[in-house]
Formats: sequence, structure tokens, C-alpha cells
Amino acid sequence: MTESGRALRISVLRHNPNDPDSEPHIQTFNVTETAGMTLFIALTDIRENQDPTLQFDFVCRAGICGSCGMLINGKPGLACRTQTKDFDDEIMLAPLPVFRLIGDLSVDTGAWMQRMSDRLDAWLHTGLTANVNALEERMEPALAQEIYELDRCIECGCCIAACATAQMRDDFVGAVGLNRIARFRVDPRDQRSDADMYELIGDDDGVFGCMTLLGCEDYCPKQLSLGTQIAWLRRRMVIASSRG
Ligand code: SF4
Ligand code: F3S
Ligand code: FES
Repeated sequence: MTESGRALRISVLRHNPNDPDSEPHIQTFNVTETAGMTLFIALTDIRENQDPTLQFDFVCRAGICGSCGMLINGKPGLACRTQTKDFDDEIMLAPLPVFRLIGDLSVDTGAWMQRMSDRLDAWLHTGLTANVNALEERMEPALAQEIYELDRCIECGCCIAACATAQMRDDFVGAVGLNRIARFRVDPRDQRSDADMYELIGDDDGVFGCMTLLGCEDYCPKQLSLGTQIAWLRRRMVIASSRG
């Protein structure tokens, strides 16, 4: 039996912080479900046929760009990778917390990610001068795979929205930031030591602020092993600090 044709009631927490007259409120839209409907398709249907002012973000529609994160029945997820058939006919949508609200379901993850990235010096520190004529360096496939696995993060912000520490501490770099550091720690081209990394994440806004709540890992749409990475980094940072 197909569920196509169900009458869905999609409620959206709406607010436009740029409009002084706007008050946060919930608006409910009726949508007829179609086969394979995602929340992205449902929201597009609403915007095209009911309310062109509804704000939400998307770019890729394929779980790659990280733009469409939102709270779906209170849990972070990607609208483009979430099918309506997996829910009852009443669905509640709200913007991701922690990030600056742009309007309705649209939040500014970019500015947050940039701040985190700047704080963590999140780029490869090789000490080498770029030479575009040089041959590419060889790398063992297993190592390349290990780095690639950690590089799969799409900066969607779901791990931040799912983390109580991130909601209490403005400067907490979160699982996305700690995963980024883990990515550079396993890359032998990065010449930074554990002591250097300790300077970046050896405090309560870094690895010691994590309370192992694991919401990050539970709601990461890319299924990154965030808890394992954080535990590994924490061990390394404790050892680095004990060596002074
Ligand atoms: Fe999104 Fe996962 Fe990256 Fe967090 S670690 S930003 S949940 S992809
Ligand atoms: Fe937050 Fe994940 Fe740690 S949810 S407290 S970063 S294990
Ligand atoms: Fe790109 Fe959803 S639109 S991840």
C-alpha cells in the first residue's frame, strides 16, 4: 500500500528578525503527500503554491551542501534527505538553534563555521611553499581513506544543534570543529604537534567542554564517528598537557 496522497499538516516556526513587527509564531500548511516526497519538496511546494515568503535554504538537494539543516519534530536533520513517509501526518519544523536566525527555517551556519575555522587554524600547516609544477605527493590509499572519512563533513550544523554544550557555550567549537582537528592530526603533511593542537582545543571551548552527550553523533547526517574522534583527541590532549 502506498502512502502517496496523505494529507500532511506541516507546521513551521516562523519569525523574521529583520522585521520589527514580526513575532515568533507557528504557521501550519496543508500539503498533499506525493510518492518519495522529501521535506525539501514539501517546503518548495508550500513556497510555490501557498506562501512565497517562507524562508528556508537549499543548494544541492542531495545531502552534500549542508544548507538545509533544521529541527524536524525537534531533532536536527537535513530537509532534502528526510522523507515525509517516515513521519505521522503532522510534522513540526523549526530553525536550528545556536546559529543566527536569518528568517523562518534559514540560519547563518556559514558565519559560525568561519569563526570556528578561524579559531582552529583549520587548514593544512605544511611549512612548504606551494609549487604548482611539482608532482603530487604519493599517499597510501588506506591513509587517504582515513583522511577522506573525516573530510566528509558537510558543515550542516546538525551536530551543533544536537549538543547541549554548544547551546551553553558561545565559543565551543563543537563536534564539527573537533572532527576538523582530528582530520589534521591524522594527516602526516600537517606539521603541528599535539602541543600545538592543545593550544587550540585544550580548554572548555574545545575538547574538555565536551560532556560526551553524543547527540552530535546520533544526528550527524553523514554518520561520522564523532564520539570516537573526540575521545581519541581528548586522550591525546591529556597526554600533551601532562608532558607540559
Ligand atoms: Fe553536519 Fe556531521 Fe559535519 Fe556536524 S560533523 S556539521 S552533523 S556533517
Ligand atoms: Fe556535544 Fe557531542 Fe560532546 S553532543 S557534549 S560534542 S559528544
Ligand atoms: Fe544540500 Fe540539503 S540541500 S544538503
